Amino acid sequence: MTGVDGRDAPLEPVLSARALVKRFGRVTAIDGSDFDLMPGEVLAVVGDNGAGKSSLIKALSGALVPDEGEIRVDGRPVRFHGPLDARRHGIETVYQDLALAPAQDVASNLFLGRERRRPGVLGRVFRLLDTRGMRAEAERVLGELGIGVRSMSQPVETLSGGQRQGVAVARAAAFGTRVVIMDEPTAALGVAESAKVLDLIGRIRDRGLPVVLISHNMPHVFEIADRIHVHRLGRRVALVSPAERTMNEVVGLITGALRVGADGELEEVRDAVRTGLTRTGGGTAE
Ligand SMILES: Nc1ncnc2c1ncn2[C@@H]1O[C@H](COP(=O)(O)OP(=O)(O)O)[C@@H](O)[C@H]1O
Ligand SMILES: [Mg+2]
Repeated sequence: MTGVDGRDAPLEPVLSARALVKRFGRVTAIDGSDFDLMPGEVLAVVGDNGAGKSSLIKALSGALVPDEGEIRVDGRPVRFHGPLDARRHGIETVYQDLALAPAQDVASNLFLGRERRRPGVLGRVFRLLDTRGMRAEAERVLGELGIGVRSMSQPVETLSGGQRQGVAVARAAAFGTRVVIMDEPTAALGVAESAKVLDLIGRIRDRGLPVVLISHNMPHVFEIADRIHVHRLGRRVALVSPAERTMNEVVGLITGALRVGADGELEEVRDAVRTGLTRTGGGTAE
């Protein structure tokens, strides 16, 4: 795994969770899930539709408050009441819908909600934005990440899907100081654009930031991930290394055809319920 070379002491997770639970009425979206992200790694989170991946990520990024369980940042228990709390801990998230402002330009989107004011009275009293400073900084960040956008004053709605994804990822990379989380960043992209986003993820890791990547795409996962968290029916059912497991094995874990046995080896499950789609909350006492 990247980032642990030459270290004897067991590393502490940057971000972890124990026994998280989140219910929506009768649906238990997170059903006692654990989570661990180690320093410097790309951790893929994989699972069926409805397995609870997005809910888990929302709990870790403050967008959803869990009913039970504990989240820790660098080993210290935290409580996120909203995304700003997670941001304050250096956790930046690229949500599936990107949350960009289409009519605004690239630089404004990069600084969305964190606009810089002009120095002195102009900024403090007259609230004037430091547009030039933000554009220069946007150009630097996008350049560093290898995202080709012609002009920082170009409206985001005129960009290609890959460029937009690049802006959303760049924003997370620019402001994330501890963790960058991405929910299905390549789901809507073509082959070339996906390759660029994967490349970006690699560069973020190279800068020392661990990345959580939620993805359905097994080739992408096996290309970029250091470890794979398999999510099924609301919880982590396996944590595997792509170097030690095949794509078929991981798919088996996702569908429930395989499970991790008591000895840590994979075993076949007979009569597996092969879906994460239909399921009611714990007990279903009716
Ligand atoms: N806000 C919500 N209200 C009600 N049910 C929800 C809500 N968010 C998620 N769920 C349900 O929780 C389960 C897990 O959803 P989600 O976390 O989006 O899974 P995934 O991202 O793995 O597809 C699904 O059954 C989904 O319908
Ligand atoms: Mg999802």
